[in-house]
Amino acid sequence: MNQTMKGKILVTGGTGFIGSHTTVELQQAGYEVVIIDNLSNSNIEVLDGIERITGVRPVFVEGDCTDRAVVRRLFEDNPGINGIINFAASKAVGESIEKPIMYYRNNINILLNLLELMPEFGVKGFVFSSSCTVYGEPDKNPITEDAPTKKATSPYGATKQICEDIIHDVIRSGSPIKAILLRYFNPIGAHPSAEIGELPNGVPQNLVPYLTQTAIGVRKELSIFGDDYPTRDGSCIRDFINVVDLAKAHVKALERMLEDKSDEALEIFNIGTGNGTSVLELLHSFERATGVKVPHKIAPRRPGDIVQIWADPKRANEVLGWHAEISLDDTMLSAWNWQKRLRERGIM
Ligand code: UD1
Repeated sequence: MNQTMKGKILVTGGTGFIGSHTTVELQQAGYEVVIIDNLSNSNIEVLDGIERITGVRPVFVEGDCTDRAVVRRLFEDNPGINGIINFAASKAVGESIEKPIMYYRNNINILLNLLELMPEFGVKGFVFSSSCTVYGEPDKNPITEDAPTKKATSPYGATKQICEDIIHDVIRSGSPIKAILLRYFNPIGAHPSAEIGELPNGVPQNLVPYLTQTAIGVRKELSIFGDDYPTRDGSCIRDFINVVDLAKAHVKALERMLEDKSDEALEIFNIGTGNGTSVLELLHSFERATGVKVPHKIAPRRPGDIVQIWADPKRANEVLGWHAEISLDDTMLSAWNWQKRLRERGIM
């Protein structure tokens, strides 16, 4: 290991939304990063953004982790990898209902290849991107990690549950690795530099990219899916977590495993703010933070939506020493600055 470096980390899906922000935080914390991405849902120019922020261009391998030979070659060509953060996965809920085989094949094969090759190449720590979707509709909020998981409502959600189970079983079999499952709530926003952010393909399915694209005039009107839910203002409630805060949780998780701060081989953490925010409250936060009015209308409920869920992040706060720090208004402003940057570059 390079003496000035803390370790070498493989970030799969590292040019994606959360992967790129995590790469920045890893580099700024003193880690060397190797990215593998097949660019199926991201752009090579993300590497320029990362370099502009940190001054360091991560090693980049264009490749598909569902191909075990590709992953093997990556480990051979980049010796000394200490940890993996696995972002590479298909992640659109609606698409997964139409293409279940693609979702199961991608998300599960990627995981199996990495877990299988880790011991052979002496890789110690594994961080898995899980989701609050594993909880289904909670009986009670805020939700803790000990709450029961419920049957997934989409193949996407099912892959998160299955992947969590696979990691459990591999650890139980005595594999000499450590793993941390991070259950993300709703990641939003962008790096404050506006050098990197979220860039969905086509019409966004998620709330914040749809909102910012409406604010800048790419979309005519934001639909609020339902105002007759049993919540304080009738819209759904989520725990919106700033992507830079979320990225920092990965650095803490890796440090915990690589520095042997725990005796447990497998741990699970909720990564959220602990605050429930309604869809309408989020819209108002955007308008307040940016001064920009967003055309919107109330539309029917979206099938499959959870009514309300927010995290109890106490375990992450106490055990990882991680806290969400960035306010919702600042987060909305960062999303807007990123959207404006895309416009300046003629991308959107
Ligand atoms: C979903 C997934 C989650 C996944 C995340 C990121 C489930 C239950 N949730 O979260 O696992 O990690 O996507 O892909 O599978 N909304 C509108 N108008 C819009 C878009 C959304 O009102 O144009 C509302 C939705 O109805 C919802 C809230 O905004 O109440 C958040 O929606 P979205 O951003 O799509 O995330 P989730 O569905 O919470």
